[in-house]
Amino acid sequence: MIQSREIRKKFLDFFEKRGHKVVPSSSLVPDDPSVLLTTAGMQQFKPYFLGEADPMKDFGARRATSVQKSFRTSDIDEVGDERHLTFFEMLGHFSFGDYFKKETIKWTYELLTDIFGIKKDRISATVFAGDDKIPFDEESYNTWVKFLPESKIKKGPRADNVWGPPGPEGPCGAANEVYVDGMEVATLVFMEYFCAKDGGLTPLSQKGVDVGWGLERMAMIIDGKANVFETDLLQPIIDLLPKDLNSRKKRIIADHSRAIAFLISDGVRPSNKEAGYILRRLMRRLITHLVDINSKELFSRVINLYNETYPSLNLEAILSVFSKEKEKFDKTLKAGIKELKGADRIDPKLAFKLYESFGLPYEVIKDVASEKARALKREDFDKEFEKHQKISRAGREKKFGGHGLILDTGELKAANEEELRKVTRLHTATHLLQAALRKVLGNEVEQRGSDITAERARFDFAFPRKVTGEELKKAEALVNEAVKKALPMQKKTMPFEEAKKTGALYFFKGKYPAKVNVYYAGETLDSAFSKELCGGPHVQNTKEVGEFKILKEESASAGIRRIRANVL
Ligand code: SER
Repeated sequence: MIQSREIRKKFLDFFEKRGHKVVPSSSLVPDDPSVLLTTAGMQQFKPYFLGEADPMKDFGARRATSVQKSFRTSDIDEVGDERHLTFFEMLGHFSFGDYFKKETIKWTYELLTDIFGIKKDRISATVFAGDDKIPFDEESYNTWVKFLPESKIKKGPRADNVWGPPGPEGPCGAANEVYVDGMEVATLVFMEYFCAKDGGLTPLSQKGVDVGWGLERMAMIIDGKANVFETDLLQPIIDLLPKDLNSRKKRIIADHSRAIAFLISDGVRPSNKEAGYILRRLMRRLITHLVDINSKELFSRVINLYNETYPSLNLEAILSVFSKEKEKFDKTLKAGIKELKGADRIDPKLAFKLYESFGLPYEVIKDVASEKARALKREDFDKEFEKHQKISRAGREKKFGGHGLILDTGELKAANEEELRKVTRLHTATHLLQAALRKVLGNEVEQRGSDITAERARFDFAFPRKVTGEELKKAEALVNEAVKKALPMQKKTMPFEEAKKTGALYFFKGKYPAKVNVYYAGETLDSAFSKELCGGPHVQNTKEVGEFKILKEESASAGIRRIRANVL
């Protein structure tokens, strides 16, 4: 049996030998606010394709290779068949204005045959046939002909053979699909255009290559398995489940438990929107199917399988977030199922009501109601969902005079009590973060802005260069130490001039009233870990903040860095 570990290594070694820099996987939560989750290896390299960042400066090469944690919500309804997954690992290699089609196709063929031992007659490929905007991909066709008989090379339409952009706009280009025994295993994208929101194409200043292979599918093929769930990446999870459980359910449990573990460890928390909503749906579906299965055992198995490759997996956080969600959902699940079973037919309106009143997500309704919900379509459910969101937004706006928030200080935003508690914790965490950054990076660090919602905190500060991973770890650890020390978070009101003298931080450009509040974390103002002029609100004691996690560090604008963070 081939170990998937070997496949990862062989892939990276192959490209490292060919001048590629090995770059670690980025988080499932991307830097890019236009997409919710990382769906492909190219996500972290988007600025290099667009010529907005210099790969020579950042990693000393115009070629990179990686194994990327990826997530595709679009495949959620397919999970349960032989090969679809929500979370998966993508093996990738990339060229930023360096090699192009000929090398890419040659290496793809060599990897498949020489390195992974796949016989030539099992391989086929498709290339773009061309349309009125992008021409026939003749170069790819003529290169594939050197390796495969013409009968194995098909010309395909735009839907299959043009890839990108990820999100509303970005790089895109003609793509080759590569198949083994009729199953797609890799996509080779030749980035040539910037694809705008309106679909308009303009040539990029440099051409690029973005290749992605599915690790699970390769493991299945190389190991001669019937489906991805029998590979060493997933079979050990399936082995934990009761033998008599139907195989579709087993596959859903295996897929979702793995996805949940990775999403939580990358800082996603359940909520009713965006990435948090995706996580919530996966968790609720898992909870519905988790009869007689111990979730601790399940997630420990996921960790054992993956923590050597992904040491950031955090069992404690996974179990705590999962059990909180379970506690919440268990309260309504039974009643919801009863209501569902009592109905004759489940139309989109009723499905939405089941979600709204009992928290049953679409997938759970489909799984549990089977026949009665056969005609129910995701798009119709989503329409109901959107309709409702519009109504409730309008309602809130009426109530709160245009904003729909119970708290909006400009910096902090919360729509209800639960969100208020969360943003308060994040707000104190942001003070601790600023103090920690100044300890690690020096007093050059100065706050330039912050934006805190129940989903995350964003903190902008002046600093002339990228903050290294090590420095971020140090700052994160300092914040967590301050949390563990359970420091009182106190407030003193004093005249502005006096407040300045205490060394408390404030915005130089800010306008302050004659009397201001200084918030400080510590027993006394002198010995405080952090002190800032601030309007609150804050927690009473730093221990309420909980575990603090830096999710991202990036450039916000010239000379300004941005950190995204969350608390567990
Ligand atoms: N971006 C392409 C994909 O996701 C190739 O990496 O398939």
